[in-house]
Amino acid sequence: MTENPGARGGRGLFITFEGTEGSGKSTQMRLLVERLRAEAFVVVENQEPGGTAIGREIRRVLLNPQNDEMSPITELLLMFASRAQAASEIIEPALARGLIVVSDRFTDSTLAYQGEARSLGFEKVLEAHDLALGSLFPDLTICIDVDLKAGLERARRRNLIQAGSSVEDRLDLQSLEFHERVRRGYAKIAKMEPERFRLISGEGNQAQVAFRVWAEVSPALAHLERMAQ
Ligand code: TMP
Repeated sequence: MTENPGARGGRGLFITFEGTEGSGKSTQMRLLVERLRAEAFVVVENQEPGGTAIGREIRRVLLNPQNDEMSPITELLLMFASRAQAASEIIEPALARGLIVVSDRFTDSTLAYQGEARSLGFEKVLEAHDLALGSLFPDLTICIDVDLKAGLERARRRNLIQAGSSVEDRLDLQSLEFHERVRRGYAKIAKMEPERFRLISGEGNQAQVAFRVWAEVSPALAHLERMAQ
């Protein structure tokens, strides 16, 4: 197997997906990973919170609807605890090998959910990021933007179907106003970092959205090598 020599000084490429509940980001991430693999790139996947065994335990605590007394700062630190583990176990080693890492959510989620929607502020989130992850930031972030009401309805239907997942979560259960603040948080990041953070319309069918995602991702692949066939 030839390893991808990487887009930045011998390192791989780090792509993250973001979006509000029911935006279709996880589906779009899956479609992107399939396409990258079909094009012979080596791709490593992560999910936040929960990409590692330790992260999955932390995810259960975070999303358990019974933990309704969790303070915003506890929530923030648990998000970063999961992410620090994923960084050392999954993300950093893969990037060092020149591979592509695709993560379902990362620090932009914490900026939007805890920083903006829970009012902790971006500064505090970035301080925690510095402690947990140092200079590890994505090269490219795809944020799928959809109408909030339609997205929440979609997320609720999904949670009902996945009966075992105990109402997928405490965070899904927040008010529409909370999710509006999350969306506002994403809009702020898009203004601050338009080069890295790409807001993409989630309107239309899966193939149409996937086409938009690919248009953003494909230029970033120019310097990566594919596996020998
Ligand atoms: P998911 O449903 O996309 O897997 O995300 C789990 C929930 O956790 C979702 O409601 C968003 C929330 N979340 C945060 O509040 N802060 C974070 O840093 C992350 C990664 C997720």
